[in-house]
Amino acid sequence: MTYFTSVGEVPRKRHLAHRRDDGRLLYEEMIGEEGFSSTSSLLYRRNIPSAIARSAPWEPTGAELHENRPLIPRHFDLHALFPDGGGRDVVRHRRLVLGNDDVRISYVVAGETSPFYRNALGDECVFIEDGTARLESVFGALDAGPGDYLVVPRATTHRWVVAPGAGPVRAFCIEATSHITPPSRYLSRFGQFLESAPYCERDLRVPRARLLAEDVGEDPAAEVDVLIKHRGGGSVHTCQHHPLDAVGWAGCLYPYAFNLRDFEPITGRVIEPPPAHQVFEGRDFVVCNFVPRKVGYHEGAVTAPYYHANVDSDEVMFYVAGRYEARSGSGVRAGSVTLHTSGHSHGPQPGAYEASIGVEAVDETAVMIDTFRPLLLGDGALESDDGVYLTSWLDRAD
Ligand SMILES: [Fe+2]
Repeated sequence: MTYFTSVGEVPRKRHLAHRRDDGRLLYEEMIGEEGFSSTSSLLYRRNIPSAIARSAPWEPTGAELHENRPLIPRHFDLHALFPDGGGRDVVRHRRLVLGNDDVRISYVVAGETSPFYRNALGDECVFIEDGTARLESVFGALDAGPGDYLVVPRATTHRWVVAPGAGPVRAFCIEATSHITPPSRYLSRFGQFLESAPYCERDLRVPRARLLAEDVGEDPAAEVDVLIKHRGGGSVHTCQHHPLDAVGWAGCLYPYAFNLRDFEPITGRVIEPPPAHQVFEGRDFVVCNFVPRKVGYHEGAVTAPYYHANVDSDEVMFYVAGRYEARSGSGVRAGSVTLHTSGHSHGPQPGAYEASIGVEAVDETAVMIDTFRPLLLGDGALESDDGVYLTSWLDRAD
């Protein structure tokens, strides 16, 4: 994040002794990127954040990846991975669908609150397909609902709270091994969103109030386990004190939410290329979203995507809502993911290209990830692959 926010009790100057009303010293903790040389925040904690009583291994399950060979485009039905509608949590029960060294993409349907968790590998961007949940972190709380992206900086201690009886939350999880930010071309050289960007600071939701253990009815002195995903696997740290103990914080690094309905689509007389739909970027991948919009004001405009060979990337499309006219006849529907690989040219299925001529608006909602290195298949992909997408472009007329 690039703009300054301050929440709760924060001293006037940094790095000076800051005491609670009862005289006890607070502990200043920096969470910062690139070795004290980039975006950071300072938190003021009741307890020493380093205090861990015990540590044990944690083995995230289903982390293996498999070659996409022979190389084929694929269609996965993510809803089929959770036929009983959930009962799991957002952290431990993700099913890995696709991944490489830069990003791992998974899906979960969860009806329970997760343990506290910290991803030390990179930032996470969790897209809420459906349902509601609350992200509780050392920075405060963010309520999340359908269409929200929740961007969680690397190593932020947080958990996903699903209210009892609220129904499961469906989450499409993008885990980077880098940072996830708005595209740099949307920002001024000082970090403000430009007028030409399709969203801006006022579209982002940030924590507005501190969140302490007692605020959520829990014991501040209780030992609490925190799951940590890190290079080489996972671990559990049993923290001496409840991690929700920051009385305030200030800085430019914190979790935030952005709803894709607040993305103002860039449209034109003829079809716009996918970069017009970009919403975030990470190292060697981008995130785009397609939202309902007017299209093709030019007479005779073909509004479906022209056929394209992604010579430098693999393309993942998660279909969220609406109608996907370009995929007509392929079986793609809400909850589907398609994988269009480099080395294969793709575009609309038969009939859809011509049918799109003269269309004035599209009602589609989808999230796309383009990776610049090939994607491998997770167990969630192998289990939900329809096995027939390869031939969905064949001309059936003959
Ligand atoms: Fe494409």
